[in-house]
Amino acid sequence: MKRVSMCLLIAGLLAGCGAGSGEGLDEQGLPQSGNGNGNGGNDTPPEPGTLAQLQADIFSPICAQCHTGGAAPEGLRLDSEQSSYDSLVNQPSGQQPSLLRVAPGDPEASYLLRKLEGADGIDGGQMPLGMSPLSATRIAQVRDWIENGAPREGVGESPTSIALQSHLSEPGVATLRFSRPVSAESLSDAVQVYFHNDGQRVLASPEQYALSLQDGQQLRVHWHRPDYPVTAVEVVVNDPAVATLLDQQHRVLDGDRDRTEGGLFRHEISF
Ligand code: HEC
Repeated sequence: MKRVSMCLLIAGLLAGCGAGSGEGLDEQGLPQSGNGNGNGGNDTPPEPGTLAQLQADIFSPICAQCHTGGAAPEGLRLDSEQSSYDSLVNQPSGQQPSLLRVAPGDPEASYLLRKLEGADGIDGGQMPLGMSPLSATRIAQVRDWIENGAPREGVGESPTSIALQSHLSEPGVATLRFSRPVSAESLSDAVQVYFHNDGQRVLASPEQYALSLQDGQQLRVHWHRPDYPVTAVEVVVNDPAVATLLDQQHRVLDGDRDRTEGGLFRHEISF
């Protein structure tokens, strides 16, 4: 009932159910798994963003072909949720002991992510060894889990934050990724774009850029260059003086990554 009325309401505003029209999505655009279907049994697919989901989607089917049992490479066992947790979170890498395999809240410092991305400076090969690399979406799933504090159960208590998806985005586009789905309604007020020109900072008008949100988590900011010379574009999110961004639990975004709600996020692209 509630879903239908929400849909009609949004339909009235946007002339269509828009992105929410995908089947199997609830009113927040999340897949309708587990919640509210009365199925408390073990057949329920794991929630997105949890270790259970990483185990089911990545570690068991792919990595545990090698990372299993007592002879697992580097002693890293990924053959069950518990062994993955025990051998990843806050455990030093065997290859680079000054780094943790998973540093909760800090994807960039986590050796696991570097091995999945095939980053510069890793020892040995990109994982999964000798196979095609994981898709960007799968790697992002791992990143989100680490960003959210690498919880053993659930999606973690730390507030939703932003990780830059890629430094190599297409011209005219900045791509940001939230660690959990955010509320699309609060987005347009909570994002500002500024153009820099000879030391001046000019607020872009709404016609000069467009926002698009995929899966509630990936935001593309697409701007049109104005007709004056621009030295940099700045994207600001969650400026407390303007408007804050909410996630789907109605919690304010952690913009400055201090692991508490609130704070401004700024991303500047210079030309
Ligand atoms: C075909 C076998 C194989 C598969 C599949 C595989 N690995 Fe590995 N992994 C290895 C070997 C061998 C090493 C050590 C040599 C190297 O790094 O190249 C290793 C090393 C690692 C390390 C470094 C451990 C440390 O402590 O420094 C990580 C992290 C890792 N693998 C994660 C994964 C993940 C995650 C997957 C699944 C996406 C995966 N591996 C799939 C064989 C494999």
